[in-house]
Amino acid sequence: MVDKKGANGKERRLRSRDWFDAPGDPTMAALYLERYLNFGLTLAELHSNRPIIGIAQTGSDLSPCNRHHLQLAERVRDGIRDAGGIPIEFPVHPIQETGKRPTAALDRNLAYLSLVESLYGYFFDGVVLTTGCDKTTPAMIMGACTVNIPSIVLSGGPMLDGHYAGGLAGSGTVVWYARQELAAGRIDLKQFLEMVASSAPSVGHCNTMGTALSMNSMAEALGLSLTGCAAIPGPYRERGQMAYETGKRIVDMVWEDLKPSDILTRKAFENAIVAASALGASTNCPPHVNAIARHIGVKLDNADWDKVGYDIPLLVNCMPAGKYLGEAFHRAGGVPTVMAELLKKKKGHGDALTVTGKTMAENVATAKPADGDVIKSYDKPMLGQAGFAVLSGNLFDSAIMKTSVISDEFRKKYLERPGDRDAFEGTAIVFEGPEDYHHRINDPALPIDENSILFIRNVGPVGYPGAAEVVNMLPPDRLVKGGVLLLPCVGDGRQSGTSASPSILNASPEAAVGGGLALLKTGDKVRVDIGKRRADILIPEKELAERKAAWKPHVKESQTPWQELQRKFVGQLASGACLDFAVNYQRIVETKGVP
Ligand code: FES
Ligand code: MG
Repeated sequence: MVDKKGANGKERRLRSRDWFDAPGDPTMAALYLERYLNFGLTLAELHSNRPIIGIAQTGSDLSPCNRHHLQLAERVRDGIRDAGGIPIEFPVHPIQETGKRPTAALDRNLAYLSLVESLYGYFFDGVVLTTGCDKTTPAMIMGACTVNIPSIVLSGGPMLDGHYAGGLAGSGTVVWYARQELAAGRIDLKQFLEMVASSAPSVGHCNTMGTALSMNSMAEALGLSLTGCAAIPGPYRERGQMAYETGKRIVDMVWEDLKPSDILTRKAFENAIVAASALGASTNCPPHVNAIARHIGVKLDNADWDKVGYDIPLLVNCMPAGKYLGEAFHRAGGVPTVMAELLKKKKGHGDALTVTGKTMAENVATAKPADGDVIKSYDKPMLGQAGFAVLSGNLFDSAIMKTSVISDEFRKKYLERPGDRDAFEGTAIVFEGPEDYHHRINDPALPIDENSILFIRNVGPVGYPGAAEVVNMLPPDRLVKGGVLLLPCVGDGRQSGTSASPSILNASPEAAVGGGLALLKTGDKVRVDIGKRRADILIPEKELAERKAAWKPHVKESQTPWQELQRKFVGQLASGACLDFAVNYQRIVETKGVP
């Protein structure tokens, strides 16, 4: 039974009363009330001191990955009503990973801003955050952090598993494979389209351990969703049941005054980091999770990911690091099984509080044991060290490499050579962005061979506003036909979480603001030493200084007003690519009072 009493023994006065029951100004209260009556709410309801719960709706025709939240919201409403709350559903700025140009990442900070305005400017006592497609998850959580009212995540869940020619076809991952097949001339364009479409058989977000499933798993590991929420496939009945339970739970969270700042402690973030390694999670997790930490006021940076997460083994056998997809992951126990396996070995923090009102350890006490196939046991992992290696040098101050996807082929060719077991050298081929790459990659005049390292720059948060997912680049067709399927890639942009390319990415500071990548020239020798966490252009200091002195910024013209604003205020990927001024606004319901 939830205690609704405040310190004075009376029922606690909720934030929404400042709108609907405004003391000292009944005429204003009437104005606030009237339009919420016109679709059938009654005066008695709005005067009843029942929690008003927002349902932050990210689904729409424009956002197919989240579209079924339109239906799930009905079950959320049922849950809110059954627990004694009043649901108010509202739209947030849409984000669709695959449809938005120039890149969906541009819109994460815009959706964040829009959610902050809705939650702070209206009468919400608590909120259900509907999440799914990549950036919708961090955007919603970042907004809830700034406002800091009781908040709970409802993931939309992955699509059903895709199938093609008798095998599994995973979102995104199949695209990288299909591109290789097309480049090698083994399939035609019609087959290419069929192959790609086969990976999207139902509503839901990407079914691989791409950014969507990774970030929804991060939400669960952070303690922000109910136990088992992240992995339930979108069309499964349990998804609707989870929606109902989530709606019920948020009402009690309001009475308990359980806020993001109570849950998102340093321990919660360390739980997310160890979970990310075990999951083989997307390279987009560090920037998004670092951004969430900044907005709640917890110190966290890329170095923490290496320190806390690097030695954690890979437990989850899902694409792109493994072979299964979302349905198998869910059936094997999902995030609770992974967390239980980690906590058994004292990795992560069992005492971290979660939205259930219980600790992470209590939540996962009844999790399924690891089956050893889809989810491995800690003692028999897929891979021993699966975290992100964080590199620095004269090319950048910070960039990350996802070690869980380093293939045996890559390891043998680049990393395990006698006398030089963790490092490789190569000759730089520099592209100025994806358009330049596509234009020139098959140009026979470009001196690309097996010892080349492909660089792409001007694709960071300022350069390609938002940071494009373009760092994983296919070698030229002639090399692919000869069996060279990948070359090392480095860039100041991001890459899709569905890609198995062991790129070095998210380089900060980016070229557009004068980072070391801006000084690189095609033909330069570059050395990458993963063991020492270094990446350097091998030219004399003096020459590097001369290039730096001669460098001039050349940011492309913005095409929209928002692009210009984002470019003016956005920080670098290493610190979460937040709007830097926005992190000064913390817990605004508490610190700024009633708007
Ligand atoms: Fe939306 Fe992958 S494209 S989740
Ligand atoms: Mg993506």
